[in-house]
Amino acid sequence: MNGPAQAFVELDRLSKQFGPEQAVREVSLCVAQGEFVTLLGPSGCGKTTTLRCIAGLERPDAGEIRIDGQIVVSAQRGLCLDPEDRNIGMVFQSYAVWPHMTVFDNVAYGLRVRRVGHAGIRDLTMKALELVGLDHLAERYATKLSGGQRQRVALARAIVYKPKVILFDEPLSNLDAKLREQMRVELARLQHEVGITSIYVTHDQAEALVMSDRVVVMNEGRIQQIADPHTIYTRPVNAFVAKFIGVANLMDGIVLGRSGKSWELEIALGAKDRTPLRLRADGDDGFAPGCPAVLCVRPEDIRLHTARPDDAAGHNIIEAEVIDTVYLGTFLECHVRVGPYEMCVQTDHLKPLAPGEKVFLTFQPDHGLCLAG
Ligand SMILES: Nc1ncnc2c1ncn2[C@@H]1O[C@H](COP(=O)(O)OP(=O)(O)OP(=O)(O)O)[C@@H](O)[C@H]1O
Ligand SMILES: [Mg+2]
Repeated sequence: MNGPAQAFVELDRLSKQFGPEQAVREVSLCVAQGEFVTLLGPSGCGKTTTLRCIAGLERPDAGEIRIDGQIVVSAQRGLCLDPEDRNIGMVFQSYAVWPHMTVFDNVAYGLRVRRVGHAGIRDLTMKALELVGLDHLAERYATKLSGGQRQRVALARAIVYKPKVILFDEPLSNLDAKLREQMRVELARLQHEVGITSIYVTHDQAEALVMSDRVVVMNEGRIQQIADPHTIYTRPVNAFVAKFIGVANLMDGIVLGRSGKSWELEIALGAKDRTPLRLRADGDDGFAPGCPAVLCVRPEDIRLHTARPDDAAGHNIIEAEVIDTVYLGTFLECHVRVGPYEMCVQTDHLKPLAPGEKVFLTFQPDHGLCLAG
C-alpha cells in the first residue's frame, strides 16, 4: 500500500520511456483528497515526466492513472483522456501569464473558455484573486508585476475553475531565495485553505519538508520512499534518501549482529594500523551478520568532547581529528576526520577547536540508523 485507503489520485505502476531512457519506472502512488504530496529527487529522476503523465501531456507506456474513481489513462486498455478532459490545474516554473492581458483577464480566461456566464466570471475571478492577495491589482497588466505576483496570478488561474487536482512543477524556482521561502509558506497555507488535492514537484528538499503532507523521494525513475516529512528525515529507508534529505554522516560497514534492539556494525577505517570501529545503530530486521550496511547519523545527534568520555554511558564513541569549525550563530559546525570519512557535527562549544586537535564524538545507538546502501 502506497498511501491512504481513500485514494483520490492513483498512479498504478506507471512507466515511461524516451528511446533508451527509462524516465519513470513502475511508479505507484495514492494521494488522498485534499492532500499535498511532493515528488522530490535529483535532476532527471522523472518528476516532471510523472507530472506530465498525470496532466495528459505525456502518454505512459505502461500503467494506469485514476482520478476521483475515473480512469484517465490506461496503457493496457489503450485509453487516454485529453488534458482538457481531466479537470486538472497546472502551475509551472516559468510564469505562464499572458503579458498583453490584465491580471483579471489572465485569471478569467479559463472560465471564459469553459463558457461560464458573465456574472459568474466576475465573482469567481475576484474570489481567486482575493485568495492569492491580488484583488487590488486586478486591472494591472501582467508585465507590470513582480515575479512573486506573477506566480500568484498563475496560481489564481489554476484554482479559479476549481479543478480536482493541481499540479505544480517547481513553481518557485525562478524567484529569489527570500521570496521563495515566503511563498512556500503562503502556498502551503493557501492550499490547506482551498483544500485542492495537490501534487508538487521540486528538487529542493527544504521546500518539500516545509510544504508537504507527504513526500515521495524518487531516484532514477523509481520511488525510494513515501512518508511524511518527519519520517523521511528521521527514518530514511536507504542511504540515498538519507543523503538527499538534510546532512547525513554515512559510513560503510559490515553487520556483526544484533545487540539488544540495535545492530552492531564494524566500520573499517582504511589504514591497516587503525582498529575498525564497532558502532551500534537502530535498524529494521532486514539485515544479517556479514552483510554490508551503511551507518547514518545526523550532525545534531552527535556530541563532541575534548576528553575521552566515560564508556559506561552506553553510547558509541568515535575518536576524530578536527578539520575546521564554522561559526553559524546559534552553534558551531565542526568538520572532523575519522579515517577516510569526513564527518559534520553540530556543537554548542563556544570555543573554536584548532585544526588537528583530537576530539571524541558520541551518539546514542537509537540516534544512528543502520541502512541498506
Ligand atoms: N521529451 C523527452 N525526450 C527524451 N528524453 C526525455 C524527455 N523528457 C524527459 N526526458 C528524459 O527523461 C528523464 C527524466 O526527465 P524529467 O524531466 O522527468 O526529470 P526531472 O526529475 O523533472 O528533472 P529536473 O529536476 O531536472 O526537472 C531525463 O533523463 C530526461 O533527459
Ligand atoms: Mg523537471
